[in-house]
Amino acid sequence: MEIKPKEITKEQVDAQLSICEDIKKEIGTGRYAMVDTFGCQQNEEDSEKIRGYLSAMGYEMTDKEALADIIVLNTCAVREHAEMRVFGNLGALSHVKKDDPEKIITLCGCMAQQESVAEKIRRSFPQVSLLFGPDELWRFPELIQSVRESKKRVFALGKGDGCVVEGLPHLRSDKVKAWLSIMNGCNNFCTYCIVPYTRFRERSRRPSEIIAEARELVFAGYKEITLLGQNVNSYGRGLSEETDFAKLLREINAIEGDFIIRFMTSHPKDATEELFSAMADCEKCENHLHLPLQSGSDRVLSAMNRRYDMEKYNNQVKKIREYLPDVVLTTDIIVGFPDETEEDFEETLRAVEEIRFDAMFTFIYSKRKGTPAYDMPDPFTREEKQLRFDRLLETQNRISEEKHKEYIGRFERILIDGTDKKDACLTGRTSGGRLVRLSGDEALIGSFQNVKITDCNTWALRGELI
Ligand code: SAH
Ligand code: SF4
Ligand code: F3S
Repeated sequence: MEIKPKEITKEQVDAQLSICEDIKKEIGTGRYAMVDTFGCQQNEEDSEKIRGYLSAMGYEMTDKEALADIIVLNTCAVREHAEMRVFGNLGALSHVKKDDPEKIITLCGCMAQQESVAEKIRRSFPQVSLLFGPDELWRFPELIQSVRESKKRVFALGKGDGCVVEGLPHLRSDKVKAWLSIMNGCNNFCTYCIVPYTRFRERSRRPSEIIAEARELVFAGYKEITLLGQNVNSYGRGLSEETDFAKLLREINAIEGDFIIRFMTSHPKDATEELFSAMADCEKCENHLHLPLQSGSDRVLSAMNRRYDMEKYNNQVKKIREYLPDVVLTTDIIVGFPDETEEDFEETLRAVEEIRFDAMFTFIYSKRKGTPAYDMPDPFTREEKQLRFDRLLETQNRISEEKHKEYIGRFERILIDGTDKKDACLTGRTSGGRLVRLSGDEALIGSFQNVKITDCNTWALRGELI
């Protein structure tokens, strides 16, 4: 049965904005808020909406806890380590709350949506006054108001399948690069992954809304737009209009202006030849595909419920390289999925050697309560997994460095996007998304420059303006 996502109406959003106005009148000036973000780009984008609301309520942004009247931790649940960091931060915040009991400490994001976490917060972290899941973000003003008025703790965990909401204010954190969320949720239920339980069912925004937002971004002077979704390749499913991700890419590419388009993440089971062909045709679409492999063993891929095998994945790689011979290919790999044997792991190593990714994010499997893999037998020790992890990293680092060496002497068009304080230099990215450091004036930030690559290491390139 097809699930129809709940649409939050314009009236409902306006009601939230009007609460912001009320709060603004009540708090006066000189009030501050702080938003700390953990996890993926989707969370970064959510934080920009939270800041948008806070700003509409009259709060100024700060990164100093002591100064902030509202402290928001927007959290991630994808691995245990991410959660431990947040519990650590919350512990430290108990002093801040003691010094100023009026402070509203808020926990939101994917961690907050888990019943077990909410329970732990209820019991052991009285400093948290407000907790809400990602699907409740649209009514953040109402929740804050309720904490302010009742002086009681408020817990709002999302129920249902997830909603679609338009028209929330954004306070964007960058002037050059912008996130543009095109869909939310995930229907893939990879057996290790918590995301489908915290972000609910996959639902796409309407193309007209996305294109209008992209136009606004270009008009505001943004030079890079990154389209976000847990699986952008299934964009459009369930919408009444006939559309898909390749079509959306072409439509955004047609917007006039000097800007570039990136996107993430692609699921290998849904990547289509139409997408590769659109990437090749769209001059604004950058030369980069992030295609998470997760494992090189068919047995493990099947246990992960990834719904592709190595033959399919290799065909995808072959196809994209036909369309875009210089495509920069990056991936995610999980080491130590329950019962991953030495043979399985060696298949991953072999795949990595054969495909030769440009870069990789590697993770040691982390058990997530509520996912099917949680109960799978897992006979290998943490130490054994760490050894595999180190071998994989060594292999990839060698390949990344070899690939980076091929850039030396090449010319690249680069969007200068910021500075690297440590190296006292400018930073930018190649079309394929590789980091470039170079000397130059900060006035160049936000411009496209031709750069000659002169040096490299495993993680980045060095260049000179020409
Ligand atoms: N939707 C994206 C991934 C989001 S999570 C996709 O499917 O590509 C980002 C990455 O975290 C995943 O690709 C996976 O490699 C890793 N990951 C997810 N759950 C994990 C877990 N339980 N343990 C370790 N790594 C995990
Ligand atoms: Fe998680 Fe898989 Fe969905 Fe990615 S596709 S968010 S890994 S369930
Ligand atoms: Fe983390 Fe949620 Fe993103 S679990 S990776 S913040 S979707």
